[in-house]
Order: sequence, then structure tokens, then C-alpha cells
Amino acid sequence: MTPNELSEIHSAAFTMSRPWSAQEFEDLLRNKHTHLFTCPQGFALVQVIAGEAELLTIAVHPDAQGKGAGGTLMSKWMSSVDADEAFLEVASENDAAKHLYTVHGFAEVARRSAYYARDLGDSVDAIVMRIALK
Ligand SMILES: CC(C)(COP(=O)(O)OP(=O)(O)OC[C@H]1O[C@@H](n2cnc3c(N)ncnc32)[C@H](O)[C@@H]1OP(=O)(O)O)[C@@H](O)C(=O)NCCC(=O)NCCS
Repeated sequence: MTPNELSEIHSAAFTMSRPWSAQEFEDLLRNKHTHLFTCPQGFALVQVIAGEAELLTIAVHPDAQGKGAGGTLMSKWMSSVDADEAFLEVASENDAAKHLYTVHGFAEVARRSAYYARDLGDSVDAIVMRIALK
């Protein structure tokens, strides 16, 4: 999947936050710690450093959501990375993503108050989730 395709899926999927540009994806993919996992209309980007994995982003095109692609991507990256534990951050209002992560064994470990900016000066908390992989 090219940086342009990643950026297109990301901007179609993330309606509540700033889409990442093709250049940003290109820069991330050049980093040897970044790993890309794809399915036909979605992807997950994971960074692994010193035994710790972080899910940087996961997105499935809205046309393909709700058909298991997100779950497939989660299983793929969680079984592929060489890490002792994994972390991710999710907006407290993002019920679909929170459900997906909980089903895959992640549990809340911290909360960052008013972390994500939203329209009209609003903000929502970020929930930090963790799972032990080994
Ligand atoms: C989160 C995302 C990747 C999930 O992808 P997907 O292909 O729709 O995921 P799946 O079809 O594998 O599974 C979605 C699960 O969430 C559930 N779900 C969907 N909408 C939901 C909602 N509003 N509340 C609770 N659960 C919801 C589905 O029922 C399904 O659960 P199940 O497997 O137990 O039935 C996708 O919704 C997306 O790209 N969202 C926009 C980007 C985003 O928010 N990324 C995460 C940022 S932290």
C-alpha cells in the first residue's frame, strides 16, 4: 500500500481528527521501527522499540467497516510483532475502537484528560490501553 493510499484511507476513516498526509506516512515508513499491516481496505501501523509495541494508528475505509477487517488487522499485528507488551491510545468517545481493543485483550491503564482537540474548542479524554504479549 502506498503512502497516498494510506493517507486516503486514513482521511476517509478519521472524521473527528486531522488526517495524516502521504508525506507523514512516507516518513513513518522510512523508520526501521515502524511496521505496516494491511488488508484490502485498511491498515495498522505499529512501532516497536525495545520490546514495547505501540499501535500508532489503525483505519478501515468506512465502506468496509463492520465486516471484520479491523479484527483481522489487530490479530495480524499482535501475532507478528516481537514485543513483550503493547500500548495504544484511543479517544474516550470512540466506542467501536474501544470495543475492538477490549475484544483483543487490551485493558485501560491510564487516562489523559482533554487530550484530543475537537471542533468548537471541545476536547475528549484519551484512554491508554495495554496488553502483555508474552
Ligand atoms: C476502529 C476500526 C478500525 C474498526 O474496523 P472494522 O473493520 O469496522 O472492525 P471489525 O468489523 O473487525 O469490528 C468492529 C467491532 O466493533 C463493533 N462496533 C462497531 N461499531 C460500534 C460502536 N459504535 N460501539 C461499540 N461497538 C461497535 C462491531 O460490532 C465489531 O464488534 P464484534 O466483532 O464484537 O461484532 C474502524 O471503525 C475505523 O477505521 N474507525 C475510524 C478510525 C479509528 O477510529 N481508528 C482507531 C483510532 S484509536
